[in-house]
Amino acid sequence: MDVSNMSIRLPDWTPLVEGHLATGEPIVNLAGDGEGVYDAIFVGGGAAGRFGSSYLKAMGGRPLVIDRWPFLGGSCPHQACLPHHLFSEAAALLDRERWLAGQLWFRPAGEVKASILELVELFRRGRVAGHAFMNWQTKTQLGVEYLLNTSARVLDPHTVQAGGRTFRTRNVVLGLGARQKPIDPAECPGGDLPGVYDFGTLVETLDYEPRRCVIVGGSKVAVEYGSFFQAAGCPTTIFTRNPLLRTKTMHHVDEDARRYVLDGMRKRGVEIYEGGVPLEIKGTDRVEAVVATGPDGETFHIECDFVFNGTGERPNSEPAQEWLGVEVGSAGEVVVDRRMRTSVPDVYAVGDLIGPPMEMFKARKTGVTAARNVMGESAEFDFTEYPDFLHTTYEMSWVGLTEEEARAQGYDVMVIQMPPKGLDHDDILLPCAEGTMLYAFLKPGLSGFQKCVVDRATRRILGFHHVGYGAKDAFQYLDYLLRRPEGITIDEMGQLNELFLNPEHFIQLCRLRAGGAELVDI
Ligand SMILES: Cc1cc2nc3c(=O)[nH]c(=O)nc-3n(C[C@H](O)[C@H](O)[C@H](O)COP(=O)(O)OP(=O)(O)OC[C@H]3O[C@@H](n4cnc5c(N)ncnc54)[C@H](O)[C@@H]3O)c2cc1C
Ligand SMILES: NC(=O)c1ccc[n+]([C@@H]2O[C@H](COP(=O)([O-])OP(=O)(O)OC[C@H]3O[C@@H](n4cnc5c(N)ncnc54)[C@H](OP(=O)(O)O)[C@@H]3O)[C@@H](O)[C@H]2O)c1
Repeated sequence: MDVSNMSIRLPDWTPLVEGHLATGEPIVNLAGDGEGVYDAIFVGGGAAGRFGSSYLKAMGGRPLVIDRWPFLGGSCPHQACLPHHLFSEAAALLDRERWLAGQLWFRPAGEVKASILELVELFRRGRVAGHAFMNWQTKTQLGVEYLLNTSARVLDPHTVQAGGRTFRTRNVVLGLGARQKPIDPAECPGGDLPGVYDFGTLVETLDYEPRRCVIVGGSKVAVEYGSFFQAAGCPTTIFTRNPLLRTKTMHHVDEDARRYVLDGMRKRGVEIYEGGVPLEIKGTDRVEAVVATGPDGETFHIECDFVFNGTGERPNSEPAQEWLGVEVGSAGEVVVDRRMRTSVPDVYAVGDLIGPPMEMFKARKTGVTAARNVMGESAEFDFTEYPDFLHTTYEMSWVGLTEEEARAQGYDVMVIQMPPKGLDHDDILLPCAEGTMLYAFLKPGLSGFQKCVVDRATRRILGFHHVGYGAKDAFQYLDYLLRRPEGITIDEMGQLNELFLNPEHFIQLCRLRAGGAELVDI
């Protein structure tokens, strides 16, 4: 369908995208029928390609973005972030209902159960509205040309084919994303049985209600989906070959915060085997059991009807190698410099394609960095340090050094912590704020955890760590304050104006100690 000269109202985009999901017909939105030379063709219209092309357009350039799906935005709104946030919100609500069951207005415990299938179907029905908005916004508000529902093929750094047409460009920006790694049949036979799902196939093809789940993996996806399945009433076991959340794709996870999360998951019934490795997935028409070995060499045989693969993603670099011969690293990532330039002149790579961290801020900002360089700026983006988060039935957010890292680096560490070290959490109704007020009064031990790591010598704050609700937003700005060249001191933190009851109590706790010349733990 050629929408180039059409003015399509936002509500009309939803049926249009839905219709094209079922057909192979391209959606064409071009100026001048795609003639002339583009400044950059973005191959892949996910977060990286959409933000990169929009930024380039805003700078006065001419971008074209091509995606094989009939919508812009990529995997985040279709299979990844959006469903995970929907499921995690459901998990948090279910969790509260379960802990408070039978008290106040809460239903009896036996009645707290949700259908995973129903929530998946809710997401499936609703997601196209998000896709519609991105197509509408990119055309109507941002004025970016696009070609959707068709795969691109790059012939050389200045020529791209898609939808039966050939386009000319000064540069190519590759934003091909990443894909779930399958369970390796050599390591664990049965990984391809019906009933083995991952984050993508879950939302695309789940057609029954899971009753018993086994998860392979020990990072964000394993923890987030595992917490959701368990909260929905589906008993879940996680086999993680390394300690949970100690994977090399994540850094700066504070051990006390990790322990709070891990103990919390166990309290809620999730079985976690650290050092556990699945040996075989058994079943005929659908999975029936997982055989695994535990940390002490013991063998487990767990009957289940649902296996969830959380073993991570691999960049989709094969086409880039085949088309252009770009240099690729050992984990399949396209190698780029800080300007997002690949080993091939006039070819950039962005987003998940260039490897971890596979997060939205990096996808979007690498897209923007490529655009700025295409437009003649010398822009660099260093994403070695960043704020991070994940969900259990809580939100866990962190930025900067952990207490252990700070000590290992030789800092004279002062710790501000709630609940304070050495106290029994069940004896204290703090921390409490959004989302934890009822816990604080009825189940204090569930009201979260927070820690601020300070360097005594300079009084500078080195790291913030939080488990609870409502603090993730603050971490976007705490990251900025922490990583300014001058950083932020405990004294400056104490001067900020809190909006009490604030989800993170860092401001007022800093203020309690800031008057002292000697900094003492609190
Ligand atoms: C379960 C899960 C939850 C997540 N939750 C979060 C979260 O809460 N917050 C966060 O910050 N990050 C989250 N992430 C990470 C985030 O989703 C990714 O980092 C981000 O979506 C990557 O964007 P991208 O543009 O690099 O890739 P993608 O969005 O995957 O885009 C790549 C695009 O390339 C297209 N494509 C591929 N080949 C071709 C071709 N030959 N021709 C045309 N088009 C092509 C694809 O169709 C796709 O649209 C999550 C990831 C997962 C797996
Ligand atoms: N911001 C968010 O909320 C969010 C949410 C979900 C996902 N994401 C992003 O999406 C990407 C994918 O997340 P993820 O959690 O799936 O992957 P990940 O962070 O790459 O972790 C993969 C996990 O699987 C394990 N693993 C890998 N291969 C294995 C094998 N063959 N057998 C057993 N275990 C294996 C790893 O163990 P080892 O540690 O031993 O290697 C690790 O625990 C990540 O980059 C993540 O940041 C972000």
